[in-house]
Amino acid sequence: MLEESFQEQIDAERKIEPKDWMPDDYRKHLIRQMSQHAHSEVIGMQPEGNWITRAPSLRAKMILLAKVQDEAGHGLYLYSATETLGISREELVQQLHEEKAKYSSIFNYPTLSWADMGAIGWLVDGAAIVNQVSLQRTSYGPYSRAMVKICKEESFHQRQGYEIMAEMAKGTAEQKEMAQDALNRFWWPSIMMFGPQDSDSPRTGNAMKWKIKRQTNDELRQSFIDKTVGQAEVIGLTIPDPDLKWNEDRGHYDFGEMNWEEFWSVVNGNGPCNKQRLAHHKKAHDDGEWVRNAAKEYARKQELLLN
Ligand code: 3HC
Repeated sequence: MLEESFQEQIDAERKIEPKDWMPDDYRKHLIRQMSQHAHSEVIGMQPEGNWITRAPSLRAKMILLAKVQDEAGHGLYLYSATETLGISREELVQQLHEEKAKYSSIFNYPTLSWADMGAIGWLVDGAAIVNQVSLQRTSYGPYSRAMVKICKEESFHQRQGYEIMAEMAKGTAEQKEMAQDALNRFWWPSIMMFGPQDSDSPRTGNAMKWKIKRQTNDELRQSFIDKTVGQAEVIGLTIPDPDLKWNEDRGHYDFGEMNWEEFWSVVNGNGPCNKQRLAHHKKAHDDGEWVRNAAKEYARKQELLLN
């Protein structure tokens, strides 16, 4: 009975709110996806943070600083939205540290040059926009509202990255080569952000039934590729996929086979930077313990004053 009326609410496009009854599996599915989304935002600060002190100009430094700070805020929105499902921030961070929760594979690749800041903004945030614009219509209220807020900032992230790539692509030969090298290294990992093919995606069935997702991994990946190919051509860079070709009948770009062995290896913790990213997060978390304790003590004292 409860399951039926829950599904009727979903089918009637009525948002599920924290106080509504929901199946345990719906709650668990959301906690996994939303917390992994939050972990991705926070871990994603590392590859870009790596270049803040080495930005080529004060303007570039200010833009990158603003972007990395935005990502921290996105993480906070998403952790707060996840907590409405009855799990604490501490538990979520512990799941990450114990490798029981994932974060986006893309952040396990190194950032080797300034052009990587361009490739990340253009491609990684570009892919995130495609995914997150769709997730604005997710059935869970707090997640949907968090996505609306986050999407407002993502277009700035994508534009600043594309501007870096455009500038370098029309710069010196060395700069153009650096931009092309960044595109070569980030193209395939960026389209892997959308997850496994629908046929290999164990969670997609429920995600679509419960309207947690409104489009499948493959649909979103295709939409991103269709949007991005033209952007590369405009700035004179070449997407590293010899099989990329417009298919008039499909109305989409055909593209080459993805390296699923690499994908699962990175997702399962064996990418180039997985160990380093997690160690950095653990150290930052431990170093920040005094701040959390001070904030808790302050809140406790305020509570005493008010009661
Ligand atoms: N990286 C890491 N893990 C991935 C992954 C990826 N690119 N793609 C899939 N996985 C994991 C899934 O989490 C799932 O593992 P789990 O069962 O332990 O949770 C498993 O692989 C099977 O994949 P499924 O397709 O069945 O799982 P999902 O339906 O959850 O799809 C997803 C995976 C596409 C990442 C989906 O969870 C999703 O859309 N999440 C919300 C968006 C998100 O997390 N984006 C992170 C990008 S970073 C970002 O947006 C920050 C921005 O500022 C750049």
